[in-house]
Amino acid sequence: SDPLRLGIAGLGTVGAGVVKIVRQKANLLATRTGRPVEIVAVSARNRDKDRGVSLSAYEWVDDPVALARRDDIDVLVELMGGSDGPAKAATEAALASGKDVVTANKAMLAHHGQKLATLAEENGAALRFEAAVAGGIPVIKALTEGLAGNEVTRVMGVMNGTCNYILTRMESAGLSYREAFEEADDLGYLEADPELDVGGIDAGHKLALLASIAFGTEVAFSGVDLEGIGKVSIDDIRQAADMGYKIKLLGVARMTGRGLEQRMAPCLVPQTSPLGQLDGGTNMVVIEGDMVGQIVLRGAGAGEGPTASAVMGDVMDIARGLRIPTFGKPASALTKAQPATVATP
Ligand code: NDP
Ligand code: HSE
Repeated sequence: SDPLRLGIAGLGTVGAGVVKIVRQKANLLATRTGRPVEIVAVSARNRDKDRGVSLSAYEWVDDPVALARRDDIDVLVELMGGSDGPAKAATEAALASGKDVVTANKAMLAHHGQKLATLAEENGAALRFEAAVAGGIPVIKALTEGLAGNEVTRVMGVMNGTCNYILTRMESAGLSYREAFEEADDLGYLEADPELDVGGIDAGHKLALLASIAFGTEVAFSGVDLEGIGKVSIDDIRQAADMGYKIKLLGVARMTGRGLEQRMAPCLVPQTSPLGQLDGGTNMVVIEGDMVGQIVLRGAGAGEGPTASAVMGDVMDIARGLRIPTFGKPASALTKAQPATVATP
């Protein structure tokens, strides 16, 4: 059969990981999808940077928008990041010309997801973003496919690897905030602007995306009641530990009689609970559905391999011809999310 031809924009932690999978697992991809998956062209800022993988077989394109418009690609894999700028411009260019897009860019989707999903639908294109929420954990596939027959009552979890890593290392190794932060950086967890991580914004983006899928509502990032980990001190962590608790950046979204409640903030969780035992860059997403009860998904939420794994899952769905609406139902059918003030416990 015809190959699925990829253009990859962004060759950092995640992009380089995706190139490695396509190169190293060509047979697996072809046998599982029924067609070869090939990279045609790539784009990043610095052509001369060593990315730990050979790019000589691919055409280099300086401008990601020009890459997105090429007739010889079927799918734009957008891995540059940033809510606006080249990521949004390239995504729009690809979708407008009927090309499918796979992205890990939660910031872009939290701000423009509704419009981009509409653009995709208008042009018969797919927009997929499994890697954008909880890295390697296939939580979007769980909600849009396996749990599609449920009314979701609540979705919650720890969804930022950097914050969980920092809090874990401060708690378990007595590291300073700065030392723990630098370790997370070495592991490739950080956003280009780390304030997105420690300010809770990145986790808030993810919660808003999950809430949209879970409750069939428009993405409402501005409705997330948000607090980062910047005010958590080593003394707070020690006092919590003395009482049998850990501090986690926990997100909760639920539909109440007053509207959609979305909260992302540092919370006390019992040390012995599943959330209390989440270490390092690990994420956990808990979904509660009327039919299934409670589902707990746990795994690596960031880093090269886990994130590239999720990107490839989306690419392979497209290679197989699987079409699923971006937010689990058509963008025009998403209802307005009436924000509910979070009740203080
Ligand atoms: P990096 O900062 O490591 O890589 C970004 C890449 O985009 C670089 O190759 C950079 O080029 C390229 N780039 C940036 N701006 C431009 C531009 N204007 N034109 C062309 N290329 C550009 O980011 P990550 O790989 O960590 O993240 C990529 C995306 O994946 C982001 O949306 C992020 O939020 C998301 N994500 C990341 C995860 C992670 O664990 N790292 C996990 C889940 C999602 P150059 O290398 O030349 O500077
Ligand atoms: N910076 C993000 C994190 C990457 O630390 O979780 C994964 O989305």
